[in-house]
Amino acid sequence: MNETQQDPYANNGDVNAMPNVGRPGKRVFIETYGCQMNLADSELMGGILSQEGYTAAQSLEESDVILINTCAVREKAEERVFGRLSHLLRLKNENPELILGVTGCMANHLKESITKRAPYVDLVVGPDAYRRLPGLLVDAQNEEVDPLIDVKLDKREVYDGLKPVRTPGISAWISVQRGCDKFCTFCVVPFTRGRERGVPPEDILAQCHDIAERGYKEVTLLGQTVNSYVWEDWDFADLLAAIAKIDGLDRIRFTSPYPTDFKTKLLETMAEYDNICNYLHLPAQSGSDDVLERMKRMYTRQQFDDLVGEIRTIVPDMAMSTDIIVGFPGETDEDYEKTLDLMRKTRFDFGYLFKYSERSLTAAARGIPDDIPEEVKVERLSKLIALQEDISREIFQGRVGTTQQVMVIGDSRRDDTQLCGRTDDFKMTVFDKPDYELKPGDLVDVVVETATSHTLIGRVA
Ligand code: SAH
Ligand code: F3S
Repeated sequence: MNETQQDPYANNGDVNAMPNVGRPGKRVFIETYGCQMNLADSELMGGILSQEGYTAAQSLEESDVILINTCAVREKAEERVFGRLSHLLRLKNENPELILGVTGCMANHLKESITKRAPYVDLVVGPDAYRRLPGLLVDAQNEEVDPLIDVKLDKREVYDGLKPVRTPGISAWISVQRGCDKFCTFCVVPFTRGRERGVPPEDILAQCHDIAERGYKEVTLLGQTVNSYVWEDWDFADLLAAIAKIDGLDRIRFTSPYPTDFKTKLLETMAEYDNICNYLHLPAQSGSDDVLERMKRMYTRQQFDDLVGEIRTIVPDMAMSTDIIVGFPGETDEDYEKTLDLMRKTRFDFGYLFKYSERSLTAAARGIPDDIPEEVKVERLSKLIALQEDISREIFQGRVGTTQQVMVIGDSRRDDTQLCGRTDDFKMTVFDKPDYELKPGDLVDVVVETATSHTLIGRVA
């Protein structure tokens, strides 16, 4: 695991998610783009394919099958994948037997337009069709239909009973919910991932026991609106409490909750269990009621502020991050000022900040013209980033002199005389290696000596 792998939206392909099961068989390379749920889905596809005797390719060049697991949330993400596909065409030319597939959200967003634009793609497989991958790959080899497109959504599919093959390390992802029913007007996810559904708790708990026994120390529960999780009489707080009681899972995280799905009980559960981390990624999207309404976000600015207040009352040291979109259609200077005000007042520890990107299929694309000029979006975004950088730096520097418990990830990417890890509240921390061995997953106290806006820097206490 590297430092960015835990960050939402930070997956940039280039590592093979397919496990090396060491058996002879067709060799697969799965590249992952987009969010953590895609990482979890790549591990699921890896599990499905390894059951059928497929094995990990050591490189793209030696692959029999390349699957690009994609994101459709912003246009830039899709354009990158088209760029990647045209780069991979070279390998198709060298090896005509190579099967090149597109999986994930782009498959359902663009469907046959993918193969219109990239006719050399053999396979387009949506997020609810992964059980059928082995058969689709056989069909693709036999070239019975070319290209093969399977983007059927299935509101019952939660992939229970399957065994994902997990990335080795200390941290595992478990999808506890699939799909989304919120239909925010800017967002393509309900169209690409279908209706919201929970995974049965027995299946989630069995996966949690399994990872704990295999030495994983941290689990991140995933869902588009994870706190709306329901299964019969279980709610999300019940699920979290049951997982928190499992021996060996030192850190439990989840992403992303939806603001109006918070119950006080969930916050009380977070306060009750030490191994549930004090960190919430709480997407706000905008600080203006008018924009929130056009986004169909179902809460007002006041309700969001009240929720932040309740969170900080029940868990005073809760770290928080958010998602913001600037340049949503009709966003006036005044609306934008309200977003700046939200950021100044809430003081999120970090923010994932985006320019609005119109997505076909969505209500906004069908009814609200994308009328904010690109230069205005760019300017609003850069000013917001600068503001958040200042706030993050102040918050991170506020930790100087404190002692933080850090879970070791491994060597720092920049300097192998240093280790990196994260605090309970998700702050990347870098420190000199002590003169005894620390392994990934170990917990160590670090005295913070300096800080940037993204990293705490210190020494072992
Ligand atoms: N509920 C999901 C959100 C998935 S999309 C979750 O948090 O897990 C992740 C983020 O991308 C959203 O919160 C939003 O801020 C941003 N986003 C979604 N659609 C977008 C669009 N059309 N343009 C720009 N940003 C978008
Ligand atoms: Fe998208 Fe809104 Fe769901 S951002 S994933 S439609 S909560």
